Amino acid sequence: HTPELTPTDTVPECAIAVDVLRATSTMATVLAAGGEAVQVFSDLNQLMEVSEKWPPEKRLRAGERGGAKVAGFELGNSPLDCTPELVAGKRLFISTTNGTRALQRIQNAPIVLAAALINRAAVVKFLLEKQPETVWIVGSGWEGSYSLEDTVCAGAIAHSICQQTNCSLAEIGGNDETISAIALYCQWEDNLPGLLHQASHGQRLLRLECFEDLKYCSQTDILDILPIQTEPGVLKSQNN
Ligand code: MLT
Repeated sequence: HTPELTPTDTVPECAIAVDVLRATSTMATVLAAGGEAVQVFSDLNQLMEVSEKWPPEKRLRAGERGGAKVAGFELGNSPLDCTPELVAGKRLFISTTNGTRALQRIQNAPIVLAAALINRAAVVKFLLEKQPETVWIVGSGWEGSYSLEDTVCAGAIAHSICQQTNCSLAEIGGNDETISAIALYCQWEDNLPGLLHQASHGQRLLRLECFEDLKYCSQTDILDILPIQTEPGVLKSQNN
């Protein structure tokens, strides 16, 4: 679902935000690099206000709009900037065009996770262990519309669950959107960089010369990190 399509009258037991390019990839990377937490904001002013109260040596501020870094922020939204040297022990206060907004939209669910291709296996492992009754995989999309890369990640998650449980999607209660997400993943699983290059936001990032970001974000299962919400808008690594 894009945020606009997200039903608001029900809350699933587990809601998973996906923004492969690039917000949830960045969040998983920050936590893998030893970041203390990631705190998400839809509004840049609110981010400044809240982060002001945090010790300066323990915070980093990241702002992205339209794929580009927001002036005055230390970071944009490139996962490759989030090195252990820079982020270890710090909280990343981040606002992006779509990904952080999607997370805010689902923050009332009892369990909130951030997923990308790079941490897909960690998310699947959690779902298989926890077996939540209802799960939403919420693609961040682009300003309310569908995105290929978030859908393929949803398909990658669902496909892995079916494979590991030996169950059909019907048996685990998947809907038609999940079936089409799995079909997309099965068509592209051997060429995810190719899919990201064709996606409209991939094209936008390529125009901004973010070639390496696309390459990095198209990798599957490279980080054993589960960003999980510990209080509204704050995600930590489950192992922290
Ligand atoms: C978003 O939240 O829309 C993105 O992560 C955009 C980006 O920085 O690539």
